[in-house]
Amino acid sequence: MLKSVVNGPPPVVLAPMSGVSDLPFRRLAHRLGATLVVSEMVAGEELVKSRADVLRRAEGRDLTPFVIQLAGREEKWMAEGARIAEAKGADIIDINMGCPAREVTGKLSGSALMRNLDHAQALIRSVVSAVSIPVTLKMRLGWDDQTRNAAELARRAEAEGVQLITVHGRTRCQFFKGTADWSGVRPVVEATSLPVLVNGDILSIADAQNAIAASGARGVMVGRGAYGAPWMPGRIATFLSTGRDPGDPSLDVQRDTAIEHVDAMLIHYGRELGLKNARKHVGWYLASSGAAEATVKTWRAILCTSLEPQRVLTGLEEFYSSAEPLAA
Ligand SMILES: Cc1cc2nc3c(=O)[nH]c(=O)nc-3n(C[C@H](O)[C@H](O)[C@H](O)COP(=O)(O)O)c2cc1C
Repeated sequence: MLKSVVNGPPPVVLAPMSGVSDLPFRRLAHRLGATLVVSEMVAGEELVKSRADVLRRAEGRDLTPFVIQLAGREEKWMAEGARIAEAKGADIIDINMGCPAREVTGKLSGSALMRNLDHAQALIRSVVSAVSIPVTLKMRLGWDDQTRNAAELARRAEAEGVQLITVHGRTRCQFFKGTADWSGVRPVVEATSLPVLVNGDILSIADAQNAIAASGARGVMVGRGAYGAPWMPGRIATFLSTGRDPGDPSLDVQRDTAIEHVDAMLIHYGRELGLKNARKHVGWYLASSGAAEATVKTWRAILCTSLEPQRVLTGLEEFYSSAEPLAA
């Protein structure tokens, strides 16, 4: 299944984003044309222990292909987590070696693994040998500017049987500061024969083109560029495969998408948690509508504090009908 993805037009993948790329968001991005959508990271150990919130993160069997991202630092938990992910219907497992968060790197997971490539390689081996589905790897350029070792990690990953690599063009010590260095991904492309995706700060079709040109990557991964715009990966994918930009959807379609998203979150998490988790998305939809800043601010204050799901849904209707004349 991964083969058809990488052998087709340039892939445009929705990034794994904890607290954002949950099942409702992935379903939307997938339906709107993203080539692949990746789950929020799931700790191998927590998956084995069947923590309820972790099990929810690992849902998505109806997505084809279904990608679960695993994080962890111990071979046995990663291997066991991978087996469970496969049993849950995953078509692809992605290993997280890119997360900079201290609670993750403090436990020597995520991008901390780039400080010890022998350990990283052992983890990759444990996952690849535990499952029969393809395994992919996501990483940063390195821990810091003095140790940009992504190319070396990619070589080792290829030797262990990893089938695709994504590189966020920042070091771990940069966190999210500065700008992504797309040309810094080129040594990874040159070091391996694997397909490579370039990631970081890709917000538009032009960014995707520039990132591919600078890195030589096969395709792109889009994270924050899909905030309030789950159609963005699909829009970029359409352009890269046809040369035609479908543009942003009409405000009517944006409204329907936002409402469908909030509805799906209420079902997925239940009313209270669903409403709470939907707030940031509502704020992002308002902002990406092109409406005047003052209008967005007024509506955000209403919709992102309401305790009443129905008010949020009808408010979205009202916002988009009032926003229409102001849209850019
Ligand atoms: C809110 C948030 C959560 C994230 N969670 C994950 C994660 O679970 N796993 C992962 O590999 N990367 C995670 N990332 C990193 C993104 O996948 C991506 O590499 C990064 O945001 C850069 O891409 P962008 O500039 O397109 O957003 C997260 C990023 C954000 C903003």
